[in-house]
Amino acid sequence: MELDRDRIRTLTERESGALDQRTRASGSLYERAGLVLSGGVASSYQARDPWPLYLERGDGPKVWDVDGNELWDFHNGFGSMVQGHAHPAIGRAVSERYGKGTHFAAPTEDAIVVGEELAKRFRLPKWRYTNSGSESTMDAIRIARALTGRDDILKIFGSYHGHHDAVMVSIGVEYDQIGDGDDLASLPYGAGIPQAIVDMTHAVHFNDAEAMDRKIAALDAAGRKPACVIMEAAMMNLGVVLPEPGYLDAVREITQRHGVILIFDEVKTGICIAAGGAVEKFGVEPDMVTLAKALGGGLPTGAIGMTEAVAKVVEDGTVYQVGTYNGNPLGMAAARANLLEVMTPDAYAHLDHLNERILAGCNDVIAKYELPGYTVGIGSKGCVTFSPVKVTDYKTFKEHQDADLSELAWLFNVNRGIFMTPGREEEWTLSVTHTDEAVDHFVSVFAELAEELRA
Ligand SMILES: Cc1ncc(COP(=O)(O)O)c(C=O)c1O
Repeated sequence: MELDRDRIRTLTERESGALDQRTRASGSLYERAGLVLSGGVASSYQARDPWPLYLERGDGPKVWDVDGNELWDFHNGFGSMVQGHAHPAIGRAVSERYGKGTHFAAPTEDAIVVGEELAKRFRLPKWRYTNSGSESTMDAIRIARALTGRDDILKIFGSYHGHHDAVMVSIGVEYDQIGDGDDLASLPYGAGIPQAIVDMTHAVHFNDAEAMDRKIAALDAAGRKPACVIMEAAMMNLGVVLPEPGYLDAVREITQRHGVILIFDEVKTGICIAAGGAVEKFGVEPDMVTLAKALGGGLPTGAIGMTEAVAKVVEDGTVYQVGTYNGNPLGMAAARANLLEVMTPDAYAHLDHLNERILAGCNDVIAKYELPGYTVGIGSKGCVTFSPVKVTDYKTFKEHQDADLSELAWLFNVNRGIFMTPGREEEWTLSVTHTDEAVDHFVSVFAELAEELRA
């Protein structure tokens, strides 16, 4: 049944006005922030019209903004806080480490312990550290280039892999600019990215292994065989888009056959969809894995996993993988506690339980109110995708996702005590401290929205 667009507009105006009213203190802070922070925020992804919510604190599954609004946190710092806020085990590790010094730019034992655990989880023997997802993907691509002696790279159209030049290409593109068939557009994501770099990054659609095969062959024929394919095994920036059965196996076979390094960017999936991320969940083993976000339990920590063959170019000095804060002791202490004490098998079982409950609840609402949408979930991640047809790649997302309804859902949630990641492309991340009460609240607010939409 079609939705009434006027109704969506009216509700959006009402909810937007209500949010402005309840976030006056954020509005004042925004005015002050604008004097010293560009756009009043620390990162452009924190910006929001007319102002962002300035947060004061977080505890377990909740956050509080500067107006005192209490919110169940389903945003969880872009999916970094799967362990919940201020987890005592991580707090203990960080404060113990603080007393012993926080930075030496020399290795510590915790870095080894974290490496041992990551090697087990992600089935890759060799590890290096970084401080963010962008650093992880930047270094991983350089390592792949060093290993293969090639400059070009291949990514999935619409995927986000951080803010360095090579991957700020073909993301967030308007529908009419995507390009056709096997010849998708390489377009810079914002200004300041040299055209020469843009031209080295090519894209294919997700869930189309044959197109990837053809693209690599075509690039090879043109003397531009890619060094690597960098991709998320499950896309996490179009809501959640899962790989279709057989797709990842085909990608593995194709990249191996062409001698192209396969990088699974697990910055979002990593610690969140299973202990061993997509590698464990889908059973496909890439040549490299990139991690960040949830690895550091709230501290800026990233990692790169490599096969022995890949790591060789790092170990023999062919390529420099460096950074003053790499393996920072504070981050390593937090990551160690996070992996060994918090993200345990019980934690993953709890997340699976919560996700099943929230997905089932949302499915019931969709069925009852005949909403054009469906749910997708995996591990701690999930979403309601407002689209009448299944989204399998960027093209179907752009064509079918209901952006207005997604925006309304965000406003409706935040006015009823649910903090979701702003933006139509995002998903929820549950934390180990979430409870049935938290997810039931989410479902009841969704039911309220559905009721209003159909009123
Ligand atoms: C899949 C993926 N890779 C890389 C990044 C970049 O991570 P960071 O923002 O820590 O640089 C992100 C951030 O959202 C991401 O989602």
